[in-house]
Amino acid sequence: MAAGSTEHKIDKMIHLLVKNATVVVPGPKIASQMGVSPSAVFLWVEKLRGLGVEIKGHVGTGYQLSKIPDILVPSLIKAELGEGEIGHSIVHHFRTDSTNTLALSLAQQGAAHGTVVVAEEQTAGRGRLGRTWYSEKSSGIYASLILRPSLSPAAAPILTLMAGVATQNALNSVTGLDVDIRWPNDLLVNGKKVCGILTEMSAELGRLHAIVLGIGINVNHGEMPGELRSVATSLRIESRRSWSRVQIFIALLKELERYYHLLLEKGSAAIVERWAAASTYASGKRVRTVTAEAESVATTVGVDPSGALRVRYDDGHEEALVAGEIAEVK
Ligand code: BTN
Repeated sequence: MAAGSTEHKIDKMIHLLVKNATVVVPGPKIASQMGVSPSAVFLWVEKLRGLGVEIKGHVGTGYQLSKIPDILVPSLIKAELGEGEIGHSIVHHFRTDSTNTLALSLAQQGAAHGTVVVAEEQTAGRGRLGRTWYSEKSSGIYASLILRPSLSPAAAPILTLMAGVATQNALNSVTGLDVDIRWPNDLLVNGKKVCGILTEMSAELGRLHAIVLGIGINVNHGEMPGELRSVATSLRIESRRSWSRVQIFIALLKELERYYHLLLEKGSAAIVERWAAASTYASGKRVRTVTAEAESVATTVGVDPSGALRVRYDDGHEEALVAGEIAEVK
């Protein structure tokens, strides 16, 4: 397990308590399953409580969860995944600077294809274009997936679109909310952003070593900080109820597995087709385009096989946007 990641024992103890959630688990049973001395069990219980897990102690009998914790620890997640590669290895941190930074460094150290890094909190979460990503503790999903596709670096935009469609499907299926995709990779509910994707890669001489798809989802944020409130929201704010991050995360990993295979088997056209069907921004949307060179107003007219967004400016000329961002003009 990577340095600083959730201790294996914590993961094991949560798993044990969740598996036996309806009963009081005797201290000696916890001790033997965790491989610690009976006298140390109380210290581990205290450690878990410090991490926000609610555990009731029963004098002389043992311990029981007061409620199932919504923590993204590997044992709770992996038990629900099939045989796929995505999420086969999960590195969980209660707190880290940025899961993308960590995933890039693990990728450089040889982490396997499909490895997922996830944190309850990020102290320096990164967004696109040098922005920061607001990463409130235990409210969102902050995850980075390492992929090692045998594709050229030019395929990176398609992988980003693939992640967008997979995440949209996961959010739709769990919450039933109507989730839109704004090119290239923002997921919106009622016009406000609930999820962003930051794609980074390590490549050399036209060869992709690894790609890191960093996905941030605002799940149970009660409110967004002032400066974000007009543009960002959370699933809880929009639906007026909170959601199991564990359930959403499991659905997300399953959908990523499914769409990654679709890309490998059917090629980028299948992803672009699904993306275009899933986004109101794909065609006929009046947008403000912001690129490194200029800002303009245009109408979207489709997505290229490479993942570039085609726009038609008011003077009639068309362009394929490969970078930058767009915003709806109302
Ligand atoms: C965006 O600007 O829309 C992209 C935001 C990406 C945020 C996620 S949270 C998990 C991963 N780690 C990071 O530091 N950033 C990405």
